[in-house]
Amino acid sequence: MTEKKKKKVLMLCLGNICRSPLAEGVFKMHVENSIYSGMVDVDSAGTGAWHIGDRPNPSSIKVAANNGVDISGQRGRQLSLSDLDEFDLILGMDRSNLEDLNRLGSQLGSGKAVTDYFMNYAGISGVDIPDPWGQSIDAFEEVYEMIADASPAILMRLMES
Ligand code: 4NP
Repeated sequence: MTEKKKKKVLMLCLGNICRSPLAEGVFKMHVENSIYSGMVDVDSAGTGAWHIGDRPNPSSIKVAANNGVDISGQRGRQLSLSDLDEFDLILGMDRSNLEDLNRLGSQLGSGKAVTDYFMNYAGISGVDIPDPWGQSIDAFEEVYEMIADASPAILMRLMES
Protein backbone atom coordinates (compact mmCIF):
# COMPACT_ATOMS: atom_id res chain seq x y z
CA MET A 1 0.00 0.00 0.00
CA THR A 2 1.37 3.44 -0.84
CA GLU A 3 1.65 5.80 2.08
CA LYS A 4 -0.24 9.07 1.75
CA LYS A 5 2.00 12.15 1.73
CA LYS A 6 2.00 14.16 4.94
CA LYS A 7 0.36 17.58 4.83
CA LYS A 8 2.64 20.44 5.81
CA VAL A 9 1.32 23.48 7.68
CA LEU A 10 3.23 26.64 8.62
CA MET A 11 1.97 29.04 11.30
CA LEU A 12 3.12 32.60 10.62
CA CYS A 13 3.27 35.75 12.75
CA LEU A 14 5.50 38.81 13.00
CA GLY A 15 8.20 37.79 15.48
CA ASN A 16 7.77 33.97 15.75
CA ILE A 17 8.11 34.21 19.53
CA CYS A 18 4.54 34.78 20.80
CA ARG A 19 1.60 33.64 18.64
CA SER A 20 2.91 31.27 15.98
CA PRO A 21 4.97 29.13 18.40
CA LEU A 22 1.76 28.66 20.42
CA ALA A 23 -0.18 27.87 17.26
CA GLU A 24 2.49 25.35 16.20
CA GLY A 25 2.47 23.59 19.59
CA VAL A 26 -1.28 23.60 20.16
CA PHE A 27 -2.20 22.55 16.61
CA LYS A 28 0.45 19.80 16.68
CA MET A 29 -1.05 18.43 19.90
CA HIS A 30 -4.51 18.59 18.39
CA VAL A 31 -3.31 16.61 15.34
CA GLU A 32 -1.59 13.98 17.47
CA ASN A 33 -4.70 13.52 19.63
CA SER A 34 -6.89 13.06 16.54
CA ILE A 35 -7.44 10.30 13.99
CA TYR A 36 -4.94 12.16 11.79
CA SER A 37 -2.00 11.52 14.11
CA GLY A 38 1.25 11.27 12.12
CA MET A 39 -0.32 12.71 8.99
CA VAL A 40 0.52 16.43 9.42
CA ASP A 41 3.82 18.28 9.91
CA VAL A 42 3.52 21.63 11.68
CA ASP A 43 6.13 24.40 11.80
CA SER A 44 6.15 28.15 12.47
CA ALA A 45 8.00 31.25 11.29
CA GLY A 46 7.95 35.04 11.55
CA THR A 47 7.91 37.64 8.80
CA GLY A 48 10.50 39.69 10.76
CA ALA A 49 14.13 38.81 11.46
CA TRP A 50 14.44 40.18 15.02
CA HIS A 51 14.09 36.87 16.86
CA ILE A 52 15.93 34.34 14.70
CA GLY A 53 17.26 31.62 17.03
CA ASP A 54 15.32 32.91 20.06
CA ARG A 55 13.17 30.86 22.43
CA PRO A 56 9.43 31.59 22.49
CA ASN A 57 8.32 34.41 24.81
CA PRO A 58 8.22 33.17 28.45
CA SER A 59 4.47 33.88 28.64
CA SER A 60 3.83 31.73 25.55
CA ILE A 61 5.90 28.93 27.07
CA LYS A 62 3.98 29.25 30.35
CA VAL A 63 0.49 29.31 28.86
CA ALA A 64 1.35 26.34 26.64
CA ALA A 65 2.77 24.39 29.61
CA ASN A 66 -0.34 25.16 31.68
CA ASN A 67 -2.28 23.41 28.93
CA GLY A 68 0.02 20.41 28.59
CA VAL A 69 2.05 21.60 25.59
CA ASP A 70 5.84 21.98 25.70
CA ILE A 71 7.01 24.64 23.23
CA SER A 72 10.28 25.46 25.05
CA GLY A 73 12.40 23.65 22.44
CA GLN A 74 11.21 25.85 19.57
CA ARG A 75 13.53 28.51 18.10
CA GLY A 76 12.57 31.55 16.06
CA ARG A 77 13.08 31.56 12.32
CA GLN A 78 12.19 33.92 9.52
CA LEU A 79 9.84 33.07 6.67
CA SER A 80 11.69 32.31 3.44
CA LEU A 81 10.59 32.31 -0.17
CA SER A 82 11.05 28.53 -0.37
CA ASP A 83 8.39 28.07 2.36
CA LEU A 84 5.77 28.96 -0.24
CA ASP A 85 6.73 25.82 -2.16
CA GLU A 86 7.53 23.63 0.85
CA PHE A 87 4.22 23.96 2.67
CA ASP A 88 0.67 23.03 1.64
CA LEU A 89 -0.90 25.63 3.92
CA ILE A 90 0.50 28.81 5.49
CA LEU A 91 -1.71 30.56 8.05
CA GLY A 92 -0.99 34.13 9.16
CA MET A 93 -2.07 34.89 12.71
CA ASP A 94 -3.52 38.20 11.51
CA ARG A 95 -4.39 39.88 8.25
CA SER A 96 -1.18 41.92 8.15
CA ASN A 97 0.88 38.69 8.34
CA LEU A 98 -1.15 37.38 5.40
CA GLU A 99 -0.60 40.59 3.41
CA ASP A 100 3.17 40.37 4.02
CA LEU A 101 3.11 36.72 3.00
CA ASN A 102 1.19 37.38 -0.19
CA ARG A 103 3.56 40.24 -1.06
CA LEU A 104 6.45 37.76 -0.83
CA GLY A 105 4.42 35.21 -2.79
CA SER A 106 3.90 37.64 -5.65
CA GLN A 107 7.69 37.75 -6.09
CA LEU A 108 7.72 34.00 -6.56
CA GLY A 109 4.86 33.75 -9.03
CA SER A 110 3.03 30.66 -7.91
CA GLY A 111 4.07 28.68 -4.87
CA LYS A 112 2.02 25.60 -4.04
CA ALA A 113 1.00 26.84 -0.58
CA VAL A 114 -2.57 27.89 0.11
CA THR A 115 -2.35 31.10 2.16
CA ASP A 116 -4.94 32.45 4.55
CA TYR A 117 -5.29 33.91 8.03
CA PHE A 118 -5.87 31.55 10.93
CA MET A 119 -9.42 32.42 11.98
CA ASN A 120 -10.64 32.84 8.40
CA TYR A 121 -9.43 29.34 7.49
CA ALA A 122 -11.38 28.11 10.53
CA GLY A 123 -14.54 29.73 9.10
CA ILE A 124 -14.55 32.87 11.25
CA SER A 125 -13.80 35.78 8.96
CA GLY A 126 -12.67 39.26 9.97
CA VAL A 127 -11.02 38.13 13.23
CA ASP A 128 -7.27 38.47 13.89
CA ILE A 129 -5.30 36.67 16.61
CA PRO A 130 -4.21 39.82 18.52
CA ASP A 131 -0.51 40.44 19.05
CA PRO A 132 0.20 39.92 22.79
CA TRP A 133 3.83 41.08 22.66
CA GLY A 134 4.62 43.30 25.66
CA GLN A 135 1.26 42.56 27.30
CA SER A 136 0.24 40.66 30.43
CA ILE A 137 -0.24 36.89 30.61
CA ASP A 138 -4.00 37.41 30.09
CA ALA A 139 -3.34 38.44 26.50
CA PHE A 140 -1.39 35.23 25.93
CA GLU A 141 -4.20 33.20 27.46
CA GLU A 142 -6.64 34.82 25.06
CA VAL A 143 -4.36 33.87 22.16
CA TYR A 144 -4.22 30.29 23.45
CA GLU A 145 -8.02 30.05 23.73
CA MET A 146 -8.57 31.36 20.21
CA ILE A 147 -6.03 28.93 18.76
CA ALA A 148 -7.34 25.93 20.72
CA ASP A 149 -10.99 26.68 19.84
CA ALA A 150 -10.26 27.08 16.11
CA SER A 151 -7.88 24.11 15.72
CA PRO A 152 -10.54 21.39 15.16
CA ALA A 153 -12.10 23.29 12.24
CA ILE A 154 -8.68 23.97 10.75
CA LEU A 155 -7.67 20.30 10.91
CA MET A 156 -10.97 19.16 9.43
CA ARG A 157 -10.70 21.58 6.50
CA LEU A 158 -7.04 20.70 5.90
CA MET A 159 -7.70 16.98 5.75
CA GLU A 160 -10.68 17.46 3.45
CA SER A 161 -8.63 19.57 1.03
P1 4NP B 1 4.49 37.64 17.57
O1 4NP B 1 4.72 38.92 18.53
O2 4NP B 1 4.39 38.18 16.16
O3 4NP B 1 3.20 37.05 18.03
O4 4NP B 1 5.70 36.74 17.77
C1 4NP B 1 5.77 39.83 18.32
C2 4NP B 1 7.02 39.55 18.83
C3 4NP B 1 8.05 40.44 18.63
C4 4NP B 1 7.84 41.61 17.91
C5 4NP B 1 6.59 41.88 17.38
C6 4NP B 1 5.55 40.98 17.61
N1 4NP B 1 8.90 42.53 17.70
O5 4NP B 1 8.65 43.63 17.14
O6 4NP B 1 10.06 42.24 18.07
